[in-house]
Amino acid sequence: MSATIAETARTEVLHTVEDAHQYDYDFLEPYVHPPETKKDLPWAELVTLDLQDYGRPGGKERLAKQLEHAVHHVGFFYVKNFGLTDEQVQQQFTLAKTFFNLPTEEKAKYEVDYANADYNGWRRAGRSKISAAPDNIEMFNIPKFTADFEGKYPLLDLVKAHLPEIEVFARALHSNVVLPLLRLFAIYTYEKKSEDHFRYMIYRKRTPEEHAASEFGQSNGHTDLGTVTLLFRQPIAGLQILGEDENWTYLSAQPGTIKVNLADTISHLTGGWLKSSVHRVVAPPEDQWQYDRTGLLYFARAHNDTLLVPIDDSPVLKAAGVKTRFEKPVTMEQWVKAKQTLQMNPEIAAKKYAKAGD
Ligand SMILES: [Fe+2]
Repeated sequence: MSATIAETARTEVLHTVEDAHQYDYDFLEPYVHPPETKKDLPWAELVTLDLQDYGRPGGKERLAKQLEHAVHHVGFFYVKNFGLTDEQVQQQFTLAKTFFNLPTEEKAKYEVDYANADYNGWRRAGRSKISAAPDNIEMFNIPKFTADFEGKYPLLDLVKAHLPEIEVFARALHSNVVLPLLRLFAIYTYEKKSEDHFRYMIYRKRTPEEHAASEFGQSNGHTDLGTVTLLFRQPIAGLQILGEDENWTYLSAQPGTIKVNLADTISHLTGGWLKSSVHRVVAPPEDQWQYDRTGLLYFARAHNDTLLVPIDDSPVLKAAGVKTRFEKPVTMEQWVKAKQTLQMNPEIAAKKYAKAGD
């Protein structure tokens, strides 16, 4: 069975690490969340789904009812009781912190292949071409733990030493959170190839001048491109969503929850019936300017060969009369590549689209 082969391969990876014990959590400086802001901000009012209810009698119906407003009008909600302990979450934040604290030349050995619009590996700050000022964001993206990605990306010893827990963590996010939410649409399994990834991310603290040069992050509204994005609690206030009333509100850091954000693909697959949320990360309030903002995220994407047309066997979507959004058939793989190329390498994207005549 492929899972067994993959497991064996990962045990072998572990054995290639010299003195793996030096990476034990006891020897790593633990991550501690920065304090919350004292500022009175306009917070968004979002529902919280208790995922424990999913398996109880009538639970799916109750959750679906609770989600109704969120998925059609807001695009954001929280989930709790997702089957990972606080300690497991804490450990992932600690790995993220340890990784980002490494010297640049060490991280550069695992750098993203930008030219091919890849995104797994380390992305240095200042790569985004979207806003005028250089961005302050570093990311480390880890692909799915399946044969498609086995050995495709070099890994540093810190990550190799903790690969089994990272896999448990990423798979738990898929099966305990993403799958229950998407099962309604029957579009998704873990083993089939898709560009899901687990991400460590950091927004480095900025000087007042840097905040001003980046317009306090207020020009960065966007939607995500996958099906759903999961974000772990982070007390640095900065994530905002655009409401139907055209006002931006902040998402608060609720203990023990993950924020879930509906993204473009889920919207395409339902002909816009489900809403992908427009959001942005702005400069935090002044009393948090002295801290970095570390993130743990999971990006779920439909299978690469999924055609982005509304699912045709859903009575709910039929009744809603939804229609496809694209003039010609587009697969998930093409959509990811196009959007990624546009973000990471606008010059190539411009040339390609000019040649294709659209
Ligand atoms: Fe986003």
